[in-house]
Amino acid sequence: MSKLAVYPGSFDPFTNGHLDVTHRAARIFDRVIVAVLENPRKDGLFSIAERQEIIKESVVNLSNVEVDSFGGLLVDYMRRRGATIIVKGLRAVSDFEWELLQAHVNRQLAPGVETLFIMTATRWSFVSSSMVKEVAKHGGDVSEIVPPSALQALRAKFGQR
Ligand code: PNS
Repeated sequence: MSKLAVYPGSFDPFTNGHLDVTHRAARIFDRVIVAVLENPRKDGLFSIAERQEIIKESVVNLSNVEVDSFGGLLVDYMRRRGATIIVKGLRAVSDFEWELLQAHVNRQLAPGVETLFIMTATRWSFVSSSMVKEVAKHGGDVSEIVPPSALQALRAKFGQR
């Protein structure tokens, strides 16, 4: 049976840490869906369409990776897509508490769904989308920590060359 995994997140924007997790998930599973959360309560820097475009350009060479978006509960989206595996990245122990809680909630809601964690590579362990936005907004160099499509989009958003 082909193994389909969903890698959900806000991805505002997608970073090299997210890309690392996506690459590694794509080696483990037959198909991976990177799914952007449509969150009406949370105003992002990038629209959902922009985030999806940034991700699509970053994973263009990964033939088993699809980019999508979802609203509502993750487990309902998983059911619609026929997926039973959630992939999450863990950068540090500080991520774990919240991730553990989410994994328990999702398993309570959908007992057949498993959450699997991939430890982000050490070199990206300090990278977060919020930090990227903060640094980029003030003209700092984030070219080493985001994929080219995200860098271009950040520069356009902040009116930088
Ligand atoms: O990148 P993020 O913001 O840490 O991703 C969080 C995400 C999208 C995985 C999480 O907020 C989510 O699954 N939201 C959908 C709503 C849901 O299913 N909530 C119940 C589990 S807490």
